[in-house]
Amino acid sequence: MTDQTRKNLWGGRFAGETDPQFWRFNQSFSFDRRLFEPDVRASLAYCDGLVAAGVLTPAEGQQIKSALTGILDRGRTDESYFDDPSSEDIHSFVEARLVEMIGDTGRKLHTGRSRNDQVATDLRLWLRDEIDRLAISLCETQTALLDFAEENRDVVIPGYTHLQRAQPVLLAHWCLAYFEMLTRDRERLAEVRKRVNVLPLGAAALAGTSYRIDREAVARALGFDEISRNSLDAVSDRDFCIEFTSAASLVMMHLSRLGEDTILYSTAEFGFFELSDAVATGSSLMPQKKNPDSMELVRGKAGRVFGHLAALLIMMKGLPLAYNKDMQEDKEAIFDTVDTLNASLAVTATVLRNIRINRERTLEAASHGYLNATELADYLVRKGMAFREAHETVGRIVVHAIERGLELNKVALGDLKSFSSLIDQDVFDSLSLEQTLATKSQIGGTSPERVAEELNQARTRS
Ligand code: ARG
Repeated sequence: MTDQTRKNLWGGRFAGETDPQFWRFNQSFSFDRRLFEPDVRASLAYCDGLVAAGVLTPAEGQQIKSALTGILDRGRTDESYFDDPSSEDIHSFVEARLVEMIGDTGRKLHTGRSRNDQVATDLRLWLRDEIDRLAISLCETQTALLDFAEENRDVVIPGYTHLQRAQPVLLAHWCLAYFEMLTRDRERLAEVRKRVNVLPLGAAALAGTSYRIDREAVARALGFDEISRNSLDAVSDRDFCIEFTSAASLVMMHLSRLGEDTILYSTAEFGFFELSDAVATGSSLMPQKKNPDSMELVRGKAGRVFGHLAALLIMMKGLPLAYNKDMQEDKEAIFDTVDTLNASLAVTATVLRNIRINRERTLEAASHGYLNATELADYLVRKGMAFREAHETVGRIVVHAIERGLELNKVALGDLKSFSSLIDQDVFDSLSLEQTLATKSQIGGTSPERVAEELNQARTRS
């Protein structure tokens, strides 16, 4: 690999050759070529900075910029351009192409710049764009939730605590719960974006640049809202990667829980949902099977993103200031986090558009299992009983009903009265499914009226 030693950006000090295995271990071009566009965009802005600082003549600046623009065009249109096994990373790749095109003038672009501030700049530019795309994907998944809710406005399911039937809720209310989670996710990503959108370029290797680069102007040209205030921090800060992966982990955790509910509700035991063939798979052995692989994979991939978060935290925790090569490990974690998030959001939206509801099963489940016991206690409270006593009384009525295999609204009035003289004929209205839902009409509750209002509200927020 004699020619590789020559192509290294740091060849001068080295007489010996790089061990080929180590060379492959050290290179990042196989994955950081994804930073191609931001790398060239940052170089275009930096070139202007060098001209303004008087480091490059305007003519040199022009020559470099038109060559960079050519490189950008070629890279955008020709995949084979990147078939270059001799590049160590994306930065050396672009510089090599530049020097190939314009010779020695190309060698001036790296004046006052280090790959340390360069890579941090590239990654921030890349991530900023991806966050903007993710914000759109999140909205699309939210829209799928709202559409699903609206198409099934009248569907009631049991709400659960401890996975035991608790109180009935509208399916639309369940959808809106996930909508809220994804809204917080969007807010978190917007918050992370602020700290991503800070320009490190000009920090050079670690101490700052000795050239009169107007960093504010470079920041403006690249759309950065701020510039880093400390060069040591600028090149060694990967908080933005960790914060992003943390926000991404929460998104995945939410999708995973949605997946878990969907998978459960699609079992014969629950029987609320049936996934269409478009998003289910069969078994190679058991002909009857229809498996919810789509949401199982989303649930599984959550673990993968959490793993990236742990990897980044652990990778950073012992690093002395400033840049260390350990930090090259950030890229694959971030790239894979973004890819996993995009794919999971899209598949989740598709699944939501491919669920059929078994309305008989949902209704039957929501009206059996004493989901209206709390209503009966509330009824007694309205009649003047203290809640603790009402709770106790209803507990005894439930035992009575279980023994007879009856739902509460089927227990004879006379029997109910034997538990409390406050109970009257009007109790049966209170125990109906409609009433149980309708009373939950305060903000945040599951009454049809309130949920309809929230659905409308949500449309304006997604
Ligand atoms: N490929 C490197 C990375 O991703 C670029 C920075 C290299 N800097 C250095 N001093 N070797 O971190």
